[in-house]
Amino acid sequence: MADRFNMKRRAVPCLALLLSGAAIAAAPPDAPSSPVAHPALWPSAHSPAAITDAATERRITQLIARMTLEQKVGQTIQADISSIKPEDLDRYPLGSILAGGNSGPFGDERANSSRWAEVVRQFRAHSNAAGVPILFGVDAVHGHSNLAGATIFPHNVGLGAAHDPSLIQAIGAATAEEVTASGIEWTFAPTLAVPQDLRWGRSYEGYSSDPTLVASYARAMILGLQGPLVSGRPLAPTRVAATAKHFLADGGTDHGKDQGNASLPERSLIATHAAGYPPAIDAGALTIMVSFSGWNGAKHHGNKSLITDVLKRRMGFEGLVVGDWNAHGQVDGCTTTHCPASYNAGLDLFMAPDSWKGLFENTVADVRAGRIPETRIDDAVRRILRVKAKLGLLDGRAVRDEPAQIGTPAHRALARRAVAESLVLLKNEGGLLPIKPGSRVLVAGDGADNMAKQAGGWTITWQGTDTAKKDYPAGQTIYDGLSAAVRKIGGTATLSPSGQFSEKPDVAVVVFGEDPYAEFQGDVPTLAYRPQDGADLALLKRLRAQGIKVVSVFLSGRPLFVSPEINASNAFVAAWLPGSEGGGVADVLVAGANGRAPRDFTGRLAYAWPRDARSPVTQALFPLGYGLSYARPGRVGMLAEAPGIDISAALNLDRYFQNGRVLAPWSLRLNDSGGMRPVTTGDVASPTGALQSRSVDLAAQEDSRSLRWTGDAALTVEGPRSNLSRELLEGFALVIEGRVDQVPAAPVKIGFAGFERDASSLFGRAGPLRLAIPLHCFTDDKTKLTAVENPLRISTGGPFGLTIRRVGLEAVASQVCP
Ligand code: BGC
Ligand code: BGC
Repeated sequence: MADRFNMKRRAVPCLALLLSGAAIAAAPPDAPSSPVAHPALWPSAHSPAAITDAATERRITQLIARMTLEQKVGQTIQADISSIKPEDLDRYPLGSILAGGNSGPFGDERANSSRWAEVVRQFRAHSNAAGVPILFGVDAVHGHSNLAGATIFPHNVGLGAAHDPSLIQAIGAATAEEVTASGIEWTFAPTLAVPQDLRWGRSYEGYSSDPTLVASYARAMILGLQGPLVSGRPLAPTRVAATAKHFLADGGTDHGKDQGNASLPERSLIATHAAGYPPAIDAGALTIMVSFSGWNGAKHHGNKSLITDVLKRRMGFEGLVVGDWNAHGQVDGCTTTHCPASYNAGLDLFMAPDSWKGLFENTVADVRAGRIPETRIDDAVRRILRVKAKLGLLDGRAVRDEPAQIGTPAHRALARRAVAESLVLLKNEGGLLPIKPGSRVLVAGDGADNMAKQAGGWTITWQGTDTAKKDYPAGQTIYDGLSAAVRKIGGTATLSPSGQFSEKPDVAVVVFGEDPYAEFQGDVPTLAYRPQDGADLALLKRLRAQGIKVVSVFLSGRPLFVSPEINASNAFVAAWLPGSEGGGVADVLVAGANGRAPRDFTGRLAYAWPRDARSPVTQALFPLGYGLSYARPGRVGMLAEAPGIDISAALNLDRYFQNGRVLAPWSLRLNDSGGMRPVTTGDVASPTGALQSRSVDLAAQEDSRSLRWTGDAALTVEGPRSNLSRELLEGFALVIEGRVDQVPAAPVKIGFAGFERDASSLFGRAGPLRLAIPLHCFTDDKTKLTAVENPLRISTGGPFGLTIRRVGLEAVASQVCP
């Protein structure tokens, strides 16, 4: 592997030289083609003097003078807990450790806060060899969101709708209290993206498409997380270092592609995407993370003009610049284990989750050979030590372990208030809302009692897909909240996700929306909502046809084209990704005691709502700032339902089967010696009858399909060519959920993209089934996965009974092959 990388490296010239700002006669700032910034055009800013007080600087100078080259290089590298042991630090004196989205302490995603503190303590104990403790970071991006039991605040898309900087500051402080109570001192937040094309899967991490709002929140969140900086004094023990991310224009990539390229004139970079950085820096942000993405063809991780000339010089940033997850490996001429170009561009701390060892060795050699000036390493180490000093790490900052400070009633109340403030009322025909005293309420939709859906990605796990109510011990689903509030005013609430009822309700609240996703898993080709699956719309229409008034509560990480769903609803509320405190929804939707008006809607759109499925949104259906309230009602007539484009293009290439249906563009086929038969609905058998299939109920009506083999036959999923090499690189697995009805009599093989494995052992017991086979178990050659047409084949030669409920590709923590 290393050889392959080395060959590649030698062949490529050093891009950093090409990008070294002022030395080059750059194209004019309006030209969309140059990746070289003109610092003088950018706003200036300055880290507070309290970061660089003279006494601390002197102390840092002395520390650096005593460090060996290995210790200095070690400071500039960060490893992930899933790929390093505390003892490794005795030999490799790394400066920082992170726990990424899928990395829980001791391999446990659900570890409690004391286990988190323990993992920090262990790494800290081994880091004193270098004389300087490690810095430990996590993605606490909406509350301490990796920790089961923490308060989960609404994702930033919802906080944007609240238009309330003081709320943001309070959330920052509460988050810091929970993070530090589990021993951690650094969060990779806030995201200061200013998303412009909402097909981007990370749109929900951005507060708004409006740079002014992002700028005001940037300051508030930094102050909330860190508190004010005081010269010569460390942050309070309940505060954490913040990270303004991802520098720059992560929300400005072409077609909203995650980690993509922003083809933009420099002035858009400045006017739109840079807006949050000067206020974040002025407020004292201790760290800034560089974006995976690039600008005009050059990845930011190698762009000296942006990192050094703009960020460090023009914007006077004195803290540390951290890289993103192996992102330096994407710079021309670099690999994840070797990247002088990023060092020379000005990156200080490398996020090298699993590549730290090679990067350490190669970097030491680079400095010895003069490919990286030692002064550059000294500057990086100085900035890293500044942050450590500010956190009190150089003065024995304690690893706190205070479970009682996590998920406190006060934090939950704050989160609940944030939920209430984030709701945006898009339609309220005939004053259906608020729900009146004595109402019989049917609560329907698959989001009604679904913590994973209301919390979204970056919650407990990276993708957030596989969490359950028990992971949120004190949390409330939206149904829980509605039920409590409706009962208080003499009504009843009945939960039925599928919308069935025995007694006709007065009103139905239908909660539905996007399933959780993170990063590129959420990228979509159009703004159509679930083009391959009209189940939610059908539910709304069925309820209306039964003469029931319908309130839709839409859960999503972004505005989507839902005009048909809005037409089918009497009232429609955008609730975003509210987090663990679902009760905040009822606080606004349900009347108070004696029929008094509840808290009114104050949320207003922080992103324009699209008129059709096209993106970017050129003509909004509801503009930025829109939002009705009880005090300011408004009328919404029938909306045009044309999506404006061919939405069959809106395909999710990672999901094949769900809710009892195969998802377009895929097809499900039964093959045997007699040929092939596609599965549509109802009962189907392969041509000779060796494999029979029918629709069955596992948890809900017709949510699954049973497969009964009696002889040699195969089930296959087939469709258009899709490129799954990214899924391979990111550790995705082929996931099948359902039930083993009858254990197989003959070997069972599972195929993916033409590769097969014997999987008999996975079906050895009748009962519920969830299997996840990492893609690398089929092949580790990504070039074999650039045009996959057959992502699944299950075959056997004798009796076997299997029910499938869900089939697709998902990010998983365990990479063990069965
Ligand atoms: C994301 C960052 C995150 C980091 C660590 C990256 O993939 O882009 O936002 O902080 O992983 O989990
Ligand atoms: C990690 C995340 C990281 C992502 C990068 C995942 O395996 O857990 O933290 O952001 O990979 O793509």
